[in-house]
Order: sequence, then structure tokens, then C-alpha cells
Amino acid sequence: MKIKACLFDLDGVLVDTAKYHYLAWKRLANDLGFDFTEQDNERLKGVSRMRSLDILLEIGGKSLTDAEKLDVATKKNVWYVDFIEKMPKDEILPGAKEFLEELRQAGVKIALGSASKNAMRILERLEITGYFDAIIDGTKVEKAKPDPEVFLKGAESLGLSAEECVVFEDAEAGVEAAIAGGMKVVGVGDPEILSKADMNINSLAEMSVKRLEYFN
Ligand code: BG6
Ligand code: MG
Repeated sequence: MKIKACLFDLDGVLVDTAKYHYLAWKRLANDLGFDFTEQDNERLKGVSRMRSLDILLEIGGKSLTDAEKLDVATKKNVWYVDFIEKMPKDEILPGAKEFLEELRQAGVKIALGSASKNAMRILERLEITGYFDAIIDGTKVEKAKPDPEVFLKGAESLGLSAEECVVFEDAEAGVEAAIAGGMKVVGVGDPEILSKADMNINSLAEMSVKRLEYFN
């Protein structure tokens, strides 16, 4: 098989944390005096914390100084971390653990490619850290998705070329990042939002090592 590794986004692909990001951003928006809808939230998926804040402020028509931005982003993160620390282990998304296990059995390498600076904390909470041969998260990259840096670093850490990797993503910016990196990409979630992906699935429960042969 040509595919030697699967590179996973975290939030919204392996675990249902997208809703907690949304709730924390919504709380911040409300504090700042404007509303923030789930549709607005699509623009924040896959995007770094500070860039997300800029988009949020643009939606609300607000401008803050750099010091104020840092302050409110920290506040949002405290609320978010509070949610994930209470998150039950079974919030791992359907099929995720089974697919990781199947990949490991088949000798397919596994990497994480996430924008989140909380990734390690979440992997530990779900007790799935041990599945990953490489972990590239928000603490290891400079350029946010749709820049391909996070996935290219993942492939590099595994010693593989882009053509040998398939990326799993729930965010439009993430799908674009994978394509920009020259990788195949599976869109997990709404096929209309993720129309640029090479394959679309609703959840990892639909995935198998056999289905990776599609990319050969
Ligand atoms: C991504 C999420 O995985 O991580 C984004 O899709 C989030 O919504 C980004 O903003 C950064 O996360 P964190 O945990 O570092 O604030
Ligand atoms: Mg995501």
C-alpha cells in the first residue's frame, strides 16, 4: 500500500472538543457585548487561538489592544480548559479508538497534526497518547492552517513523504492545509463544508485500513 501514515487533526476528528471551543468563544463574545453563532464558529475551526480571536472581534466589530487581546484569549482558554478537564473519557468520537487500534495492528504510522496548545492534555485525558508515533501541536508550529506546516512536520517526524500520508480533518482550513502540503485528505463531517477533500466520511466509524486502499 502506498499510504504509510495517517495524520489526524484532534478537535472535531478524534474528540468532540469543537463544542467546548464554541461555548468558550461564545461566552467571551457575550461578555464583550455581541452574539456569536455556530455558523460563525465554522470560521474558527482549525484556526489558532490568536487568529480565532481576531476573527471573533471582526464578527463583533470590536477592536482591542494587543495587551487586551492576550488577556481575553487567556480568559477563553481558562474556560475551555475547565470544560476539557471535566470531559468524560467517552467523548472520544465514534470509531476513533478502533481505527487507531486497527492502524497500529496494520503497521500504519500515526501522527497528530493539531493547532491546539492543549493537545497533550486532551490526548492524556482520553488515554490515547501511546498510539502516536509523532505529535505536532500548536506549541510546535509557527504557521497556522491553512499553511501546511503542521502536517509537513508530522510527515518529516515520521520520515515519510507527503504522498505517503493521509490527513483526517473536520475544518476547511485543515483540508486546505493538507492539500497545500501535497497530501490526500479525508473530510470528517459536513461534505458541503469539506468539499475539497478527496474522500468524505461522517465519522471515523466509517474508516478502515481497507478503505485506505482508495488512495493507492
Ligand atoms: C484547533 C481548533 O484544533 O485548535 C480551534 O479547531 C482552536 O478551534 C485551535 O482555536 C487552538 O486551540 P487551543 O487549544 O490552543 O486554544
Ligand atoms: Mg478540527
